[in-house]
Amino acid sequence: MADEIKIVGVIGAGTMGMGICEVAAANDCRVLVYDIDESFARKSHDALSSRLKKRVINGKITQEQADNIVQAVKVVKSLDDFLVCDLVVEAVIENLEIKKQIFQQLESIVSENTLLSTNTSSISVTAIAAALQAPSRLFGLHFFNPAPVMKLVEIIKGLKTDDVHVQQAKKLCKRWGKIPVVANSTPGFIVNRVARPYYGEALKMYQEQMASAIHIDTVMSKGAGFRMGPFELMDLIGIDVNFAVSQTVFREMYNDPRYKPSLLQGEMVHANLLGRKTGIGFYPYDGGVKTTKADYLHSDAKFDQFIVPDDMTLLSRMFSEFEYDQRKWQGDKIIISGCQLLLSNGLTAKQIEQSDGMPTCLVDLSFDFMKAECVNLVFSPKVDVFMKNRIVALINHIGKDVLESQDQPGMIATRTLAMLINEAADAVFNGVCDADDVDLAMKYGVNYPKGLLSFATELGWQHVANILENLQCWFGDDRYRLSPYIRNQL
Ligand SMILES: NC(=O)c1ccc[n+]([C@@H]2O[C@H](COP(=O)([O-])OP(=O)(O)OC[C@H]3O[C@@H](n4cnc5c(N)ncnc54)[C@H](O)[C@@H]3O)[C@@H](O)[C@H]2O)c1
Repeated sequence: MADEIKIVGVIGAGTMGMGICEVAAANDCRVLVYDIDESFARKSHDALSSRLKKRVINGKITQEQADNIVQAVKVVKSLDDFLVCDLVVEAVIENLEIKKQIFQQLESIVSENTLLSTNTSSISVTAIAAALQAPSRLFGLHFFNPAPVMKLVEIIKGLKTDDVHVQQAKKLCKRWGKIPVVANSTPGFIVNRVARPYYGEALKMYQEQMASAIHIDTVMSKGAGFRMGPFELMDLIGIDVNFAVSQTVFREMYNDPRYKPSLLQGEMVHANLLGRKTGIGFYPYDGGVKTTKADYLHSDAKFDQFIVPDDMTLLSRMFSEFEYDQRKWQGDKIIISGCQLLLSNGLTAKQIEQSDGMPTCLVDLSFDFMKAECVNLVFSPKVDVFMKNRIVALINHIGKDVLESQDQPGMIATRTLAMLINEAADAVFNGVCDADDVDLAMKYGVNYPKGLLSFATELGWQHVANILENLQCWFGDDRYRLSPYIRNQL
């Protein structure tokens, strides 16, 4: 059936609708596009043509490919023209009543073999399908913006969706060069649910005055390996848009504390500090450019011998570029000038020093320490200036910047990554999707460098559990409760 999809109808000629038109047309489909505002649809068609022209000039596609796409997309005046469609994708504004009305109308126009889908990003597919005489026909086809570029498509299964359609949608997405994942219709589906802690923990840390926005952003991007820090990303998305998604997910999860929106973010919306679009959000944008920089530590101190464990752990790999005669192998710890370097485990450096008596430097987590441009550290009280300088000098020597944070449990990236892993794990535990799909979704929907569950395996599930349990103990907050999925891995 997926091979037989030759004519696609798209409803809504906005950002997503036109992106989906381009994807279908670039893959040998004829596309009909309908918008309630016909003149807007014609403008959108012209804009598509100009965008493609630029891509021809930049050498991304040929003139012939551009012409074929433009010619394959036709604006129609009425939904009645969708009679010939094999598949319809609805991409109108995010409003349940409007979407229901559209599908009721469509059901009386198209043949019973036509596949019906919605690109909704937050409305229950089950709720939209309830308007249909045959609710089993409807599924979600959730593209990401910009649709022609982003590889991921979440296929959303409503409670009554027929699995045959899900399989057809999967095949079609593959034919269109996309990476499909399947999710049950639940708040935020996969990506918008699992990504919540990326913003939520950042906002909470900022509110707790643990670090500045630029400090957190630098740790998360240059240190942990995310493409963009949470605050610059929220400024880009729009503080109001991000806040609205957080509120929806919280409400629809019946006020589960894990999804509690930030008071500060609400205040920023009231103050019209919405990010790039209002010229100021977490950062001021001078002519669209963010100028703030993080405060790095630097040291030229001479470092002598240091100890690295024999077996390569996630952290010790960072020092593997040193020649053998520059270091000494021993035990299971990294020790620099008498100070132990440990991966953060959700305890403070002070707590660890109090329990084992050793001066302690905790290192914040990274997807890949070899690639990290910057390393975030905290020091326990017994770490003196001599030790600190040598640790900083050593890390500078291997070409990485150093940041120092306040000694708070879980630091910055460790706390965020543990919460993201917990969320991914819990989505699988609650049957939203399977483990492979949650990893694919975060890699291709929001460009995470690694899947969260596969990273947790690399890090060790026990370590993830320790971080979360220590955080829950410190904050006394159900927000950090461990997903039973993680307990099953121990
Ligand atoms: N923008 C994103 O990043 C994004 C990403 C994924 C999914 N989505 C979802 O895609 C859908 C569309 O989002 P968008 O950003 O393209 O919105 P948009 O505002 O750019 O476009 C919506 C279009 O729908 C048209 N429209 C409104 N009512 C209509 C009706 N009754 N019949 C026909 N056309 C109608 C409007 O005229 C407008 O052109 C929403 O459900 C949204 O949640 C958006």
